[in-house]
Formats: sequence, structure tokens, C-alpha cells
Amino acid sequence: MLDIPMLPSLSESSAIFAPESYAAVRRPLAEAETMPPWCYTSPAFYRREVERIFAKVWNFIGRDDRIPRPGDYFTLEFVGIPIVVVRDTAGSVRAFANTCRHRGSLVARGEGNCRAFKCPYHSWTYGLNGELLSAPEMDESAGFERKDYGLIPIRVESWAGFLFVNFDDHAPPLSLHLGNLPQVLASHRMADMVCVRRKEYDLACNWKIYVENAMEAYHVPTVHRTTLQRQKGQAPEVEKTEGHWVALYKAHEGSRALIAGDKGFPPMPSLEGRMAHGSLYPLIYPSTMFGCTIDCMWWLELHPRGPDRTHLVVGSCFHKSVTERPDFPAVVANYYKRWDISIPEDNAISELQQLGLSSPYARPGRLAHLEPLVREIDIWVLDRVVGAKSAY
Ligand code: FES
Ligand SMILES: [Fe+2]
Repeated sequence: MLDIPMLPSLSESSAIFAPESYAAVRRPLAEAETMPPWCYTSPAFYRREVERIFAKVWNFIGRDDRIPRPGDYFTLEFVGIPIVVVRDTAGSVRAFANTCRHRGSLVARGEGNCRAFKCPYHSWTYGLNGELLSAPEMDESAGFERKDYGLIPIRVESWAGFLFVNFDDHAPPLSLHLGNLPQVLASHRMADMVCVRRKEYDLACNWKIYVENAMEAYHVPTVHRTTLQRQKGQAPEVEKTEGHWVALYKAHEGSRALIAGDKGFPPMPSLEGRMAHGSLYPLIYPSTMFGCTIDCMWWLELHPRGPDRTHLVVGSCFHKSVTERPDFPAVVANYYKRWDISIPEDNAISELQQLGLSSPYARPGRLAHLEPLVREIDIWVLDRVVGAKSAY
């Protein structure tokens, strides 16, 4: 008879938050099981992840070169929270809740440049510093003072042009989250990078499915057999890290952002040590992956949208000096070709995994020795969602 224990009924739902349910995930790698399928499908588990992880930690939202001039802004929705990010008149990047203080409309949409945000509903108008500049017809509203109704600020900090927001006013600074990552990547000179392309995808999968995929190379000979398969050699090494990130390092010849045989740009002359001879693939917890290879970097930025929905942003960055080469447009096409093949391959397999995991027949599986970070990432999540650990 079919035993359907994996999606607990309401009376059993306490199993989702019982630490005992995850003992097998925490075993040593050779004995460990994968997380129960409900971790990828349950609305309750997802809500806990939002409350205990995404609402508390530094979340990556792209690069500040997207908004180079005062008044440039972009909007996004992160775990259900609409945000507007803007460069103010003094040149600083600020983030605000994109919710009007009158009756709550979005005040900004899409991206662009403006001198002020004028709400499309009743024309309350906010400065680039969030201050409420004008509110028509409000003089008869007793005790109403514009200064009390500015846009609500959201913490934003940057590292080398990479922007992160935090919804928790009491969280430690971004530097604590990143730990030694900026040092490890110092020779990539990330501050000199320019984002030359952003590409977005809506995925029908849980955010962890995508993170786990990005952080193991076991799937490469199967999922990318006709594309990246020629990137052979030793299994990647797990990097020793300090801070809220993990990484794989892979030594290799040439660029990892090209299909073998395609013409590329020369290696970055600034690279030192291991970084000159290989690629580092960090996961910045919870949901941002970087690919740092010898001639460029790319990022995979995930915005969870529900237990089985994720928005993916892929950014591609080169040093500014490379982007100014006359052959840049022709040669960068080879890089785009590689990403435009490999990323949809990962997207498709992630959606298939979501479908399979949504079955009542889905069960915890076992891990190969090539998947150490899958286990480590799952434990990081469980420590916060089920365990007693605070976000930091
Ligand atoms: S909701 Fe924004 S002005 Fe009314
Ligand atoms: Fe992949």
C-alpha cells in the first residue's frame, strides 16, 4: 500500500518543525540523507524561511552601476516586499519600502530616473531621500505633519559595487555577513567591474533547489553534457571560509565562462595566486551565487517568491577596461552564448526536480561524495528554520 508520509497532514505538521525530523540530514556526508521533500514544497516551511532567514540577513540585489546618476532608481519585490532603490542627490544609494504612506499604493514602478517619486494614486510626492515633499489637500487632516510620513527606509550596504539590503534594523553590518570573501576575491578587483547584462527568469522551483544545483558539480556531465562537459578534471575543492558563505574552487586552464574553443578576452592581469589558475564559485548565503573566473564574473541572484516559485537574475560583469575594447561587443557574444545555454539547462532540471519532489512518492534520497555543500547548505538552513540559531 502507498505510504504517503512526506507531506504531513495538518495534525502532523509539527513534524516539519521538529528537529528529530532532520537527524539524517545532519549525519556525516557518506551517511547523510537529503532534506525531506516538504522542505521544498511546504508553505509553512517557506514562511519560516522568510521570517528567520530572508527577513534577517543581508540579501543581494544587484550592482550599483545599474543606477549611476542621481535620480536613477530601480524597483524589485523581495520575499513579497516591494522595494525602491535610488541614488540620491548626494550620490548615495538608498532603499525604501515602495509603499505609499497615504493608502499604500506602490509609489515607483520599473526603473528609470526621476527628481521625486509621485504616487500614482493621489500624488503624494517623496524626495529621493524618502522625505514627503507634498501631500495635496491634507491641511484639514488634524495634526498631520509631512515629516511623519516619509517613505520607510530599508538598510542598504554595498561591497565593491554589490548592493545588499537588510530588513532587520538590528542586524550586524554587511562586513560580518561577508567575512573574508572580499579578501579572498581582492585580486579580482570587483570594484572595477561593470555589469554589462542582466537577464531575468521566472522559475517554477524552490530557491534551495537552485542553490543546491549551483553548488555541486555532480550534475555537470549529465545536465551540461553537450555544453560544459569539456570542462573536465578533478572534482572542485571545498573552500575554507569565514563568514556566511561557502564556495567551490576549481583549478583549470582558460576561462570557465566560455564554451571550450570559443574566443575570449585575456585573463585579468590583477589576479593573484590560485585565482590566476582557476575559478571560485561562492554561495553568499542565503541565495546568491557568484562565478569568479579568470576573465570575468557572473552572478545568480535568487528572489524567493513562494515554496515553488523563484525569480532568477543573472548578471554578467567584466572589468571596465575590457568593456572599452573595440572588439568587446563581438567577443562578449561568446560569453553570452555559454550562459544562455548552461543557465536554461540548470533552470529546466530545477523545475523537473520540483515536479518530482511534489509527488507523494518523493522520499529523502542519499548524497554522493561530490555533493558536500548540498549537505552543508541544508544544515545552514535547518539551523535557522528548525534549530535555535539566530540568523547571525
Ligand atoms: S495611496 Fe499614494 S497618494 Fe494615495
Ligand atoms: Fe549546472
